[in-house]
Amino acid sequence: MTSTPIPGPDAPTPAGREATLPDDGLQQGPLIPPRTATTGEPMIAINAVSKWYGSFQVLTDCTTTVSKGEVVVVCGPSGSGKSTLIKCVNALEPFQEGQITVDGTKVKDRATNLPKLRSRVGMVFQHFELFPHLSITDNLTLAQRKVLGRSPADAEKRGLDLLARVGLSDHAKKYPGQLSGGQQQRVAIARALAMDPVVMLFDEPTSALDPEMVGEVLDVMVELARDGMTMMVVTHEMGFARKVADRVIFMDRGEIVEDATKSDFFGQPRSPRAQHFLSKILSH
Ligand SMILES: Nc1ncnc2c1ncn2[C@@H]1O[C@H](COP(=O)(O)OP(=O)(O)OP(=O)(O)O)[C@@H](O)[C@H]1O
Ligand SMILES: [Mg+2]
Repeated sequence: MTSTPIPGPDAPTPAGREATLPDDGLQQGPLIPPRTATTGEPMIAINAVSKWYGSFQVLTDCTTTVSKGEVVVVCGPSGSGKSTLIKCVNALEPFQEGQITVDGTKVKDRATNLPKLRSRVGMVFQHFELFPHLSITDNLTLAQRKVLGRSPADAEKRGLDLLARVGLSDHAKKYPGQLSGGQQQRVAIARALAMDPVVMLFDEPTSALDPEMVGEVLDVMVELARDGMTMMVVTHEMGFARKVADRVIFMDRGEIVEDATKSDFFGQPRSPRAQHFLSKILSH
């Protein structure tokens, strides 16, 4: 695997990404070391994946790739298989047919070390799933120490650095219950980033939040995208998709019905199902 060059501070913004962020109080500096985006080299390759729950087929012949540095938004009606598909990417769900490769590692392979694979795939869910009995600092450092074997000092430095980047330095000693939903979700993102993932998966990270907190979480995600992180994001936040997505995948009834560039998806969705979905979601 070739390493990606790290551009200097004057490196151009990745194509299609809007670099302007609102002045939201987030600290300056990248969330991850800046990298060039969209190299064309696949980070995630999903190849003819089908999955059944008993006799119910939840995924049908799903094929797509996510290149290094690419941001792909996955949308579609409730029950269409979006969560299932991204859970297959880090082997939280098994699948019966096809193959998924993440950064060259086959997900469905007896030889694959799944804990190691999962440690390289950051996942942020709708519900933040922080440990309620641990302080924010301990939430940020636990997996770094247990899974990556980092020293307590190194883990804390990395965790607190990321906490600063998501604008929450003052909250290091608090417990999750003392933070708002938006703040907890930002901690969850920082916790995932502390593992130095090669890709980040998000499953409706803002849909459980009160409306006034959605923006602060999206700002962090926009910044992450701008820094060149490879991201697969299940969301109905079409403003986010318009702002940073390179591609949009539309799923319906377990199938990838549309896999298009952002401009094609919003400008001229091919399938009637995507057209119908967009007309509903954009009318609000
Ligand atoms: N553990 C399970 N056992 C059986 N069926 C399941 C299970 N998990 C999900 N399903 C079914 O699989 C289908 C896809 O579910 P999935 O959660 O992937 O959809 P989704 O697109 O993420 O929906 P939503 O937008 O509501 O989150 C649904 O019909 C769901 O009922
Ligand atoms: Mg879902």
